[in-house]
Amino acid sequence: MKDLKNDLFLRACLREPVERTPIWLMRQAGRYMPEYRELREKAGNFVTFYKDIDLSIKATILPRKLLGIDASIIFSDILTPLESIGVKFEFREGEGPVFLNPIETPDDILKLKSFDKNDVYYVGEIIKGVNRALDREIPTIGFCGAPFTLAAYMIEGKTSRDFKKAKAFMYNYPDAFKDLLDRLADMLIEYLNFQIESGADAVQIFDSWGGYLSPDDYREFALPPVKKIIKGIKRDYQPVIHFTKGVAGFFDDMITSGADVYSVDWMIDLSEVKEKLNGKAAAQGNLDPIVLYASKDVIREKAVSILNKWGKDTGHIFNLGHGLMPDMEVDKVKYLVDVVKKESVR
Ligand code: CP3
Repeated sequence: MKDLKNDLFLRACLREPVERTPIWLMRQAGRYMPEYRELREKAGNFVTFYKDIDLSIKATILPRKLLGIDASIIFSDILTPLESIGVKFEFREGEGPVFLNPIETPDDILKLKSFDKNDVYYVGEIIKGVNRALDREIPTIGFCGAPFTLAAYMIEGKTSRDFKKAKAFMYNYPDAFKDLLDRLADMLIEYLNFQIESGADAVQIFDSWGGYLSPDDYREFALPPVKKIIKGIKRDYQPVIHFTKGVAGFFDDMITSGADVYSVDWMIDLSEVKEKLNGKAAAQGNLDPIVLYASKDVIREKAVSILNKWGKDTGHIFNLGHGLMPDMEVDKVKYLVDVVKKESVR
């Protein structure tokens, strides 16, 4: 497709015939790689890292060189565009993101500024630079966080086990919360369109915390702004991937979002996913990342089991159900990529 040398990933997303199942991994450029840690040290901290165009291009293409995956996801974070609307945060070692001005009242939402894509010009430059550096060998995936997940962080102020503050705000001020989700959806439409204009071949929307809602609340709060974003994306061929963690209880609802690909965690059986999608959309997933702490034999067995659940039809992109972790072994990650490539040949 287009000018790409290896377009397996895009063909699988669009349910066109493939010779084997494509694979890429969430958080594929991360601390588990010594080469990543070197780049990060040069950059200083995570924020100066993802704003440094040259170092971010280098981080993005590491997994292609070291693992041989079929798509690059740009090195950035879901929080990146929030700075433009006046949200202040930093990443603390061992703690993750910490917000300096979290939303505490409905009035705080009214104080948010409007999004200006010039504030994230570096994301566009990273996409262009990756396409140049890889000489269009494999597709480049852009991404954003889903409105619910971003709102949860903006209110909670940090990562959390239960997002108690954020969900209590949602129940106490449902209209203000919906207004926040809607503003974020508008921002993310502009942000994803900017990434596609800059050369992203696909975009993924990460709703990492959407699965923490009841099915009713998922339908009322998390899903509508994702639908709005997908409608608002201007694209030629570029597929949209919708990821939600913990979606087993309302997968039927998720698959009404209008995405081309649904990315699922390991708590739902891929055969069920296939049956429910019924050829109308593709699926991405869904190996439990913890399997990568097991022996190579177990890694092979679990990966092959997932491949068998989908069978030889197109429309499956192999991935994890969530991201790689900092203490994983590069050798085992590479082994997983090799197994999937070899065992999925049609
Ligand atoms: O997948 C990729 O390789 C692309 C880059 C990417 C990162 N974060 C890099 C990152 C992507 C797509 C994300 C998405 C992201 N960020 C999500 C959604 C997916 C998910 O994991 O649920 C979320 C919730 C975030 C927010 C975030 N960023 C947290 C909670 C943390 C801290 C967690 C940790 O491991 O320390 C981050 C930091 C972060 N984002 C790192 C990387 C490589 C670690 C930065 C570092 O310390 O070097």
